[in-house]
Amino acid sequence: MMRKRKLFLSMLMAASLSVFTLAGCGGSREGSSSSTESATNTAEETADETDAAEEEGDAAEETAAGEGFEADATIGISLPWLGTQNWKEAQDMFTEQLEAEGFTALVQAADQKVPQQQQQIESMIQNGAKVIVVGPVDGTQLGSVLEEAKDAGVYVLGYDRLIENTDAVDGVVQFGSVRTGELQGQALLDGLKAEKGDGPYNIELFGGGPADPNAPNFFTGAMSVLQPEIDAGNLVVVSGQTDFTQCATEDWDNSKAQKRMDSLLAGNYSDKQIDGVLSPNDGIGRAIITACEDAGQDIPVVTGLDAENESVEWVWQGKQYCTVAKPTQDLVAKTVEIIKSLQAGEGMPAYEVKTNNGKIDVPIYELDPVVVTKDNAQEVFANDPDRLELLK
Ligand code: BGC
Repeated sequence: MMRKRKLFLSMLMAASLSVFTLAGCGGSREGSSSSTESATNTAEETADETDAAEEEGDAAEETAAGEGFEADATIGISLPWLGTQNWKEAQDMFTEQLEAEGFTALVQAADQKVPQQQQQIESMIQNGAKVIVVGPVDGTQLGSVLEEAKDAGVYVLGYDRLIENTDAVDGVVQFGSVRTGELQGQALLDGLKAEKGDGPYNIELFGGGPADPNAPNFFTGAMSVLQPEIDAGNLVVVSGQTDFTQCATEDWDNSKAQKRMDSLLAGNYSDKQIDGVLSPNDGIGRAIITACEDAGQDIPVVTGLDAENESVEWVWQGKQYCTVAKPTQDLVAKTVEIIKSLQAGEGMPAYEVKTNNGKIDVPIYELDPVVVTKDNAQEVFANDPDRLELLK
């Protein structure tokens, strides 16, 4: 802390306030080994200021951040695919909101293909994009094209997913991914107690696409809640498949999840009832429920994510136990706010958390997901007329 304090003071003396507007295009380059830590760089508190100065000082050395750019600049948005509702919403909302702010929006989706995403980002750089926002197909495969972007003076923001193993990322806007998994695990437990009598309960576990950095985090978060209950014998994973690699769903492909569920049921549940299934998102959750119906099972307690329209209806009908809402409008609004700050020459806004991405500690602009069950759906969607409309 002393060192930081000294650094802060000497920076104050040596530099004008513009140091602070040269803010954080790179965040910390210290490379901590911890996975997530608090960065506390809000300006009000002294200790936080020291961190902020260090962060911003590092960043100022790295690129010519903070100079701002034209108000009608091109902003590239590179989405991994449009296979779940959240990404379609992001496509529409980014297009509308960036255009409304006067920017030129270049929004593309990569159909789950890494080379396609690399090419799309490449062409955003060629088109003079000042900021490129990326939801990576594979968190680890964009290093070289993003380094090219940085060399061209482009800001790089991760959207919804972490960008891994590169220092060419200025920050990531996302809902807490481990937190999301904890909520899913807890909701599964709560649902079992509420709907399936006394335990022990027979359950199965599903994860998302292994290339997506969120997927192992969702699973880790959920298992932090479920593993102690498995160890205590209150939950029984009848198939014995409890590793992420066994439970993952390649490319978040619902039909692959449905096939896995079909074979889990055929192989393990011919004489048993399945009580609950951990699902990492709504599409996979609906596939699991369909497989259970096809096998003549009573519908188990199934979790989800995204508050997709169809699942909101199923939650309301009592067919899917819960989903987790991570509103796209909040994620897009936060991203656009950062882009406006960069445009105005004010650099990256303050953040509270950073995560090690394998190479550097990346500033994370973290939002809070919320569990939605039939009980609180009306409350959660009170300000979302489209979803509220589905509750009847
Ligand atoms: C997103 C989820 C989405 C999944 C599949 C994840 O990274 O956080 O909202 O369901 O990708 O598209």
